[in-house]
Amino acid sequence: MFFFQKAFFFLLLAGCWLMSSINCQPTYNYHYCLDQSEETPSTSFQSNLSVLLDSLSSKASQNNSFYNDTSNGIYGLFLCRGDVNNSICQSCVSYATQDITSRCPSNRTATIGFDECMLRYSNTNFFGVEQTSPELLAWNTIGNTTSPNEANFGALALMNGLIDEALGTDMLFKAGNRPVGKESEVRYGLVQCTRDINTTSCSNCLGQLMNDANQCCQQKQGWRILAPSCNIRYENYLFFQKPPVPPSPQPVPAAPKPPPDNGKAPA
Ligand SMILES: *[C@@H]1O[C@H](CO)[C@@H](O)[C@H](O)[C@H]1NC(C)=O
Ligand SMILES: *[C@@H]1O[C@H](CO)[C@@H](O)[C@H](O)[C@H]1NC(C)=O
Ligand SMILES: *[C@@H]1O[C@H](CO)[C@@H](O)[C@H](O)[C@H]1NC(C)=O
Ligand SMILES: *[C@@H]1O[C@H](CO)[C@@H](O)[C@H](O)[C@H]1NC(C)=O
Ligand SMILES: *[C@@H]1O[C@H](CO)[C@@H](O)[C@H](O)[C@H]1NC(C)=O
Ligand SMILES: *[C@@H]1O[C@H](CO)[C@@H](O)[C@H](O)[C@H]1NC(C)=O
Ligand SMILES: *[C@@H]1O[C@H](CO)[C@@H](O)[C@H](O)[C@H]1NC(C)=O
Repeated sequence: MFFFQKAFFFLLLAGCWLMSSINCQPTYNYHYCLDQSEETPSTSFQSNLSVLLDSLSSKASQNNSFYNDTSNGIYGLFLCRGDVNNSICQSCVSYATQDITSRCPSNRTATIGFDECMLRYSNTNFFGVEQTSPELLAWNTIGNTTSPNEANFGALALMNGLIDEALGTDMLFKAGNRPVGKESEVRYGLVQCTRDINTTSCSNCLGQLMNDANQCCQQKQGWRILAPSCNIRYENYLFFQKPPVPPSPQPVPAAPKPPPDNGKAPA
């Protein structure tokens, strides 16, 4: 079990902003070197793996926020958090491909996760298979909620709402906030699935993580649960990029024949 200190995150974040985005290291969360066989992979596996990892890295540089790829019997994918832009995604995936090889130098199956992206590979085909194990649970050790019941209902409503919305998107991703509790304090949440699995599997995956959140995290101010096929995170501070504000419509000169009204007026 891991316990994250919020102060620790703030430090990393501040350090990150001082650097240029190309040198900015992603924020490490976990890695798993999963096969435990005695037999070290052949050099041909190692070189096939590096071909696959290079290919994934180049897919990230082509503005993909998710990609699953296979070559020479090795299966791999990366997923960037739905709100990060392509330059962050690209540098995270590029860093992950190097870091996973140094952390799991002799493994045929491995996973590495950062705040900004995750990367997996295996010599067996896992594409389309919903996987919730291994599962990483982490929460802020600083303080419990002052009024647990209230805040918990708010958290549930926020997270379940985000899950419903995410299942309706191609990205299988949603981040958002809402005021919770009597004090109407704003809380922030994020849910996301890898896009090799379908909507049904994504729903099951996120549902299981929410069950686990109910068990582990009832009184926590912030928590996250990270699994291979999906992840959820809840905090009392903004931890994702706010979506860009759409440009306000320019005033246009009155046209003789305006197009038919095709939507609601902006609020
Ligand atoms: C895989 O990783 C584990 C550590 O998790 C290590 O003990 C093992 O030797 C590695 N290599 C193989 C071939 O399993
Ligand atoms: C690596 O790829 C080559 C084809 O390029 C294949 O013949 C070989 O079996 C692969 N090695 C492993 C260990 O998968
Ligand atoms: C990258 O992808 C995003 C989202 O899919 C899109 O809005 C943007 O225009 C793309 N940028 C480039 C340079 O292709
Ligand atoms: C991507 O996001 C980072 C962090 O918000 C920002 O510093 C950077 O300028 C953005 N890059 C682009 C190309 O939008
Ligand atoms: C938070 O609540 C847990 C039990 O749910 C308790 O063990 C822990 O001591 C509490 N922590 C603080 C800082 O109050
Ligand atoms: C990516 O995964 C899907 C299953 O979710 C599969 O149909 C597709 O062939 C995979 N793509 C590659 C390049 O392997
Ligand atoms: C979703 O994927 C699962 C696992 O591959 C499969 O059993 C199920 O039939 C799929 N559901 C739909 C609606 O495609």
